[in-house]
Amino acid sequence: MSSGADMPIGIFDSGVGGLTVLHALREQLPKEDLIYLGDTARVPYGTKSPESVQRYAAHAAVWLTERGIKLLVVACNTASAVALDVLRRDLAPLPVIGVIEPGAAAAVAHSAAQRHLVLATEGTAARGAYTEAIRSLNKSATVEELGCSMFVAVAEEGWGGDPIATAVAEKYLASYRSRPASERPDTAILGCTHFPLVSDAIATALGPDITIVDSASTTAKAVAAELDARNLAASGDRTGSVRLVATDSAARFARVGSAFLGEPCTESDIELTDIHPLGGAADRTGA
Ligand code: DGL
Repeated sequence: MSSGADMPIGIFDSGVGGLTVLHALREQLPKEDLIYLGDTARVPYGTKSPESVQRYAAHAAVWLTERGIKLLVVACNTASAVALDVLRRDLAPLPVIGVIEPGAAAAVAHSAAQRHLVLATEGTAARGAYTEAIRSLNKSATVEELGCSMFVAVAEEGWGGDPIATAVAEKYLASYRSRPASERPDTAILGCTHFPLVSDAIATALGPDITIVDSASTTAKAVAAELDARNLAASGDRTGSVRLVATDSAARFARVGSAFLGEPCTESDIELTDIHPLGGAADRTGA
């Protein structure tokens, strides 16, 4: 019989962006089995209402918990911003880790001036979850949140190194670079799982004095700490498995996902599924 420690970790995102978190988990926790669900049928979440994102996140979480997981990672900033509290409440005692608290902690740790700029989707920025998380760690920090959803499309197209990424970054960010030094943020948080793929363009547009912080590796550290605290870490001489599941278009998931994962994957590596928990017409019309 499998004990808790032998069970996989479940991870979900609206699409391929959370593969940056999966990559960090594999590096830091190589013994763990991982199931990654990308809700590619309903991406993007970042421009949807909080109610829709909460419903989608619940569907993804139920699909994963039905596979038997020991911990859930919400590897999507938008879903973490609007659905984390509900998921924690509904799935207790299952540990649920989002990407915002680890990202906020990393930013506070890196920032000398405690002037933070959060780059995120519209949905995440509107919720103000990063502001709340940063202020809970440092009451006097200043936080600005900027919705820049266009970066999602640029990253999805694999154009992170293209002049189009530079142009989009200039459009969103040039005004921060031209502020007086005392008003310029000193930390920019990549508050969207897609943004590590456009981080070079973001860094250039913001100028040299701003540190870019990404939540993938700090989220993996938070997962490792939670597993240790609950005695749930996989042990023994083993290498964990990775199962990649999408709700639409395995071919696109493989093509775009390879860049996020940092290694090639092919269409045959991706399983397709439907995550409507009730599976019936009533649920579909309500979605
Ligand atoms: N994964 C989303 C996030 O981190 C970005 C893509 C989307 O809008 O769904 O916010």
